[in-house]
Amino acid sequence: YKRVTTKSLVDMKSNGEKISMLTAYDYTMAKIVDGAGIDVILVGDSASNVMAGHETTLPITLDQMIYHASSVIRAVERALVVVDLPFGSYQSDPKEALRSAIRIMKESGGHAVKLEGGKEIKDSIKRILNAGVPVMGHLGLTPQSIYKFGTYTVRAKEEEEALQLIEDAKMLERIGCFAIVLEKIPAKLAKQVAESVSIPIIGIGAGNGVDGQVLVLHDMIGMTHEFNPRFLRRYMNLFEDMTSAISQYVDDVKSVDFPNESEQY
Ligand code: KIV
Ligand code: NA
Repeated sequence: YKRVTTKSLVDMKSNGEKISMLTAYDYTMAKIVDGAGIDVILVGDSASNVMAGHETTLPITLDQMIYHASSVIRAVERALVVVDLPFGSYQSDPKEALRSAIRIMKESGGHAVKLEGGKEIKDSIKRILNAGVPVMGHLGLTPQSIYKFGTYTVRAKEEEEALQLIEDAKMLERIGCFAIVLEKIPAKLAKQVAESVSIPIIGIGAGNGVDGQVLVLHDMIGMTHEFNPRFLRRYMNLFEDMTSAISQYVDDVKSVDFPNESEQY
């Protein structure tokens, strides 16, 4: 099968084919996700929450992101792999941003990077794009700014923030980003953004008027169970299935049911 590229995603938008995207942070999961036919795999800094158990995405380091991304890359044959630049690796100046993006591309083999923000990081994004590294934007609820927002509720409900978001999306398209993630904003606004740019808009909690959808893998397979936003559809309940499998194993060990005759040498 043909590899998904940044160009194929833009073509999908013009052909009206929706783009599917999920996170993955390790080899085994990425192998399953890629084999199932996903278009884009995001090595998200949500690894900070999902893999490391931090409360926010802020603590994860560039080295840790590179470790996750290189594990994912070893598994993937078809999907486009996008890697988040973590908090603190691009905000201070464009040179630092470029250095971080280059480390990700060289050391993990990822195909593109994602940065959170609009006009405030425009020069950094331009610098990365100039080096030939594809950039995915991320607007709306940008979790690296959670301490500025003070809450995980829907963004851009007020006109001022909505207008700025539209402007930022147009700017990201103009400078050459290949796609934008819109997180947790009103569906109507997300649709409006998707209609006003020609690059794909990938939504999470942004309704179905956009060009594709992204979810955190561990949430959609129900491995996590305390996080229950309205936008999350659970396709499995792995938390319950794993809990019962593991407690069955505990019982089998305790009762000397496992291993049996055919499970030993
Ligand atoms: O880190 C992440 O998982 C993300 C997606 C939710 C878009 O940035
Ligand atoms: Na992220």
